[in-house]
This record gives sequence, structure tokens and C-alpha cells, in this order.
Amino acid sequence: MKIMIINGPNLNLLGKRQPDVYGHTSFEDYFASLQMKYKEVQLAYFQSNIEGEIIDKIQEVGFSYDGIILNAAAYTHTSVGIGDAVKAITTPVVEVHISNTFAREDFRHVSYISPGARGVILGFGLSSYDLAIRSFIVE
Ligand code: DQA
Repeated sequence: MKIMIINGPNLNLLGKRQPDVYGHTSFEDYFASLQMKYKEVQLAYFQSNIEGEIIDKIQEVGFSYDGIILNAAAYTHTSVGIGDAVKAITTPVVEVHISNTFAREDFRHVSYISPGARGVILGFGLSSYDLAIRSFIVE
């Protein structure tokens, strides 16, 4: 099984960025632990701060991979383009967020990703990604 994890803007700063909200672990370290845990899954990881690069990656893998785990970060709440890309592909997308966006500011309660997603996992810290992988395994 091939799963691509796509992270959006500022998630390259995980571990340093607002640790009270996002924790102390870098995504690179967490990703390595996921690879150890799910040896049977071919996990790939891409991060970009640029909206168009995220759309390009969704298009690139979105007709061949078995799953995409997408944390579009702030673009979740603004990007019609990423939302359209999710709807345009055949690979199922699970939307994830580290924080519980519904417990935060009102502008984080809107998602342009959710209408095209298979499901949404949020609020479990970095474990949200782990739960998303499991959702593909148990499907
Ligand atoms: C986030 C939540 C977004 O509202 C925020 O802009 C992020 C991270 C999360 O994973 O909790 O950058 O997607």
C-alpha cells in the first residue's frame, strides 16, 4: 500500500512552532517513527509552504497512490484550489489536523478540503496522522 502524507504551510516548523498547540516533535522525527511502525506501508512525505506545489503533488500522486493524508494547514481554511484538486483525483484523501480546529478561532471552523475528503481526523496531536494511516489499513 502506498500512502502520501502532504503537509502545508508552516508545518516544516513543527517542534519549534507554538509547541503548546503543536507539540515538541519535528515532523521528520515523527515520520521516521511512522515508517518504523508501519513497515508494510510505503509511506512518502511532502511538505510545502506554496499552494501551487501542494496542488501539483496532489495531482502527481492522486491517480496512482492508495491514499493521501492531507494537512493543508492554513490553506484548509482558504484554498478553493486545493479543495478542487482533492475532488479532481481518484485517490481517497483523509484530511488531518494536529489541533482541534473547532476548539479554536471561528475562521478555523471552515474547511475547503472536507467536502472532497473521505474523512477527517483532528485534535489528536501528531497521532492524527497515525489514525489516518490506520483508516486506510482497516478499510
Ligand atoms: C492545523 C490547523 C490550522 O488551522 C493551522 O493553520 C495549521 C495547522 C493543524 O494541524 O492543527 O497550520 O492544520
